[in-house]
Parts: sequence; structure tokens; C-alpha cells
Amino acid sequence: MKLLAIDTSCDESCAAIFDTHDWKLLADVVTSHVKEMAQYGGVVPEIASREHLKALPLAVNRALSDAHLTLNDIDWFSATSRPGLIGALLVGVSYVKGLAYATEKPFSLLDHLEAHLFSPLLGELDGEKVPPFPWIALVVSGGHTELFEVRGVESVEWLGGTLDDAAGEAFDKIGKLLGFSYPAGPAIDRWVKSAATPADRTKYKFPIAKTEGLHFSFSGLKTAVNLETKALHDRMTEFEKLSLVASAQESILAALVSKVQMAQEARGIEQVVVTGGVACNSRLRELLPNAYFPKPRHCTDNAAMVAILSALKVRSSLLKKSHFDETAEPCIPRNF
Ligand code: KG4
Ligand code: ZN
Repeated sequence: MKLLAIDTSCDESCAAIFDTHDWKLLADVVTSHVKEMAQYGGVVPEIASREHLKALPLAVNRALSDAHLTLNDIDWFSATSRPGLIGALLVGVSYVKGLAYATEKPFSLLDHLEAHLFSPLLGELDGEKVPPFPWIALVVSGGHTELFEVRGVESVEWLGGTLDDAAGEAFDKIGKLLGFSYPAGPAIDRWVKSAATPADRTKYKFPIAKTEGLHFSFSGLKTAVNLETKALHDRMTEFEKLSLVASAQESILAALVSKVQMAQEARGIEQVVVTGGVACNSRLRELLPNAYFPKPRHCTDNAAMVAILSALKVRSSLLKKSHFDETAEPCIPRNF
């Protein structure tokens, strides 16, 4: 079967094609709107929706041409329908419905976080050794910071999540306070890693929120960095700024690492996988040396993860044919 999957949950228009017979990814297209959003200092949902209208059909055509297929060769269509920016998701869901209607093929709606959760399995396609289930999985991006126990494609349990900002959002907002353009996370990571004079990453003792259980909180850190920035005022040299962002990064990452370790202990599970945009962070990769991180392209939003999730569900007869049946809404239960 050839599966065509789409993701439009935020500001990337993504399309991918998976062959379930050869268990192979045939196309993997990501068109980012980040340049468009940088001028506004962040994602503007309405503009993201309009960008998807332009970029998504091109991404789908490109995926078909990369796979040397036509629309009629596709057996099943999938799109993520939650969580994400509602207008952006609507473009992808409507588009997939249109494709399914035009070709008289089924379509399915999937959960974007569930797709992130199984993105590590894309590594196996490139011959990487991916840890066996069960996993403690951390999805950490601009929109999410959530922990799960993953026992297989049929068995996912939500363990905790952020009570306010996501970790990537904390990177971006702290970066914005200090004059970085959107998205600040990758720029902070690069600067701290490669500054000629290494940062003093212990100089500022920023708070790590004492949240209950396996939950996170990052909004206090943003306020603490803001207050420190104001206090430094005209003493803010390049080195102070570097040490400030390096210390803030340490505080964000320490919270992630400590909750991952708590989850490992609570569940008696050794294997850890980390995905989502913040999983590209080089310091996080250093701090969790035994965790599996997908390659950066598959940590950030992409449709390959949606395609492989669809394929896994097809293989386990779990993919619901929606056939315009709106009751097939996907959702990972959260025990809030
Ligand atoms: O998964 P993603 O592409 O989109 C969603 O938010 O769903 O993640 C983007 C987020 C942004 O907040 C960005 O600043 C952060 O991931 N990010 C990073 C790094 N690369 C991306 N944060 C820290 N270090 C990085 N290297
Ligand atoms: Zn995402």
C-alpha cells in the first residue's frame, strides 16, 4: 500500500509517502514558513493558515514527483487533525479529504503528538538501532512538553506535561527578550556551543519549577530572565548575555532531564526517546547520552512521522477508515 500523509499543525507544510510493502519512505517534503514568521517574532496563526494554502499543494506535488507516483497510485491518505493551530490543521484536514474524495480512497485523521512519539522508528529505515519498547518518551517542542510511556503502537500512556509554556516556547520567549529573532532555540544552542569565549553556564541560578509529579512549568523562568536582564541593564556585555542565555538553557534542560529520570524510576523503564524541535538541542543530547534522539529533520515537524504512524496502524489493523465519518477523531487520552 502507498500511504500519503500530511502535517500542517503549525508553520511547516509537510507531505510524505510511505510504502507499506517495502517498508520504505518514498518521499519526505517539509516547507517551512519560518522566514515569513520571523518578521512577526513568532507564529501568527492566521498567516500560517494562509501559507499552508499556498505551500501544501506544492509539497504534495513534490512528494508525488519524488516518489515517481501520481495521485491515483495512492491507496490511503492521512493528516494530523490535533493538537495544533486550528486554522492550520483545518487546511491539511480539508486538503486530505479533498484528495480522498477525488480519488475515492480512504483517509484517516491522526494525533500529531502520537506521530512525534513514533518518529524514532524512522531511524530504523536508515539502519539505526532504535531501542525496543517500552520507552519513556519526551515530546518537547514549541507547542508541547509532554511525557509518555510507550509500550507499542496500541499502548501509549500520557504521564505529564507542561502547566504553562512549552520548553521551546521558553527558549523563543527568552531569546526574544534578548534580541534573538524567531525561532531563538536553535540560535541559542549554536551560540552557547560555539562561542569563542565559552559561556559561564552556572553564572545565573535560575529557578527550576517544583511542579507536582511529571509536570513541567517554564513561565517563572521567563520572568526571572526578564528581571535579571533589567537588573543588568548597561552592564549587559556580550559575555553576560551569553552566560545569561546559557544559564537559562541549563535551567530548561535540567527540568527536562530530571522529569525524564523521575519517569524512568516511576515506571521502571530504562529506554528513553526524545523528540520534537527542542530534541535538536546539542546540550540536551549531551545531558541524556543514553537516550535515543531521531535525526533533527525528524525531531521538528514533518509528515514522515505521520506516514510511518499510518503504516504501523495499517500493519496492526488499527487505522480507522474515516470515509468522511467525523467520529474517527484521534486522541491520546490524558488523565488530567
Ligand atoms: O517541533 P517544532 O519544529 O515545532 C513545534 O513547535 O511543533 O519545534 C520548534 C521549537 C521552537 O520553539 C524552537 O526554538 C525549538 O523547537 N528548537 C530548539 C532547537 N531547535 C529547535 N530549541 C533549542 N535548541 C535547538 N537546537
Ligand atoms: Zn510538533
